[in-house]
Amino acid sequence: MSVEADKRAAAEFAAQLVEDGMRVGLGTGSTVAPLLPALAARGLTLRCVSTSPATEALARQVGLAVEPFDEFTDLDIAIDGADQIGPGPWLVKGGGRAHTREKIVAAAAARFVVIASGEKVVERIHEPVPVELLAYGASATLRRLRNVVLRPGPLSPDNGVIADWTGAVEDPATLAALLDAEPGVVAHGLFGPELITDIVVSTAGAVDHRV
Ligand code: 5RP
Repeated sequence: MSVEADKRAAAEFAAQLVEDGMRVGLGTGSTVAPLLPALAARGLTLRCVSTSPATEALARQVGLAVEPFDEFTDLDIAIDGADQIGPGPWLVKGGGRAHTREKIVAAAAARFVVIASGEKVVERIHEPVPVELLAYGASATLRRLRNVVLRPGPLSPDNGVIADWTGAVEDPATLAALLDAEPGVVAHGLFGPELITDIVVSTAGAVDHRV
């Protein structure tokens, strides 16, 4: 079974966790892409929030109702992919430059479901760890954060500068605290255990669901 088929299997499993009337946070990326038609196919009445313009466009194409996040104080469930799933569990997210929105949506959701193909599971969290910087003073922030390098390409959906932490990650909690303490950092891509309720991983067609 291919990685793409495993992404689809995890996404389709997660679509079954959504119930009629729920307010749903939609993540970003190639694992979330097959989630959208799977959710639409269920024919539920849902109110959705998107974490990126790309997801919003795909969601509307399949007929999901997407509303501005300002309309909600909280969400019932959010479903999103990950770049790494490590012990803890800790995640690394932000390969698609949307981790700031994704973290806000995850924190607002009663249930945050991570979906992935098996190769995203790692023994240790490692570099690169995405970091979004406020554009104002980004050069000064980069100078202070010596292990952070600019990532070529577009800005984040909210016009933040995207960079990556490079170097050894001895302990994700310590690195998260270091990045959180830097004034110019909007958000980093480390998601800690307090955010995560469910992990759905498909490996060679076998779906593993951990709560
Ligand atoms: C976007 C993300 C994605 O969830 C992460 O990069 C995984 O993407 P994919 O499902 O395409 O492998 O964090 O900012």
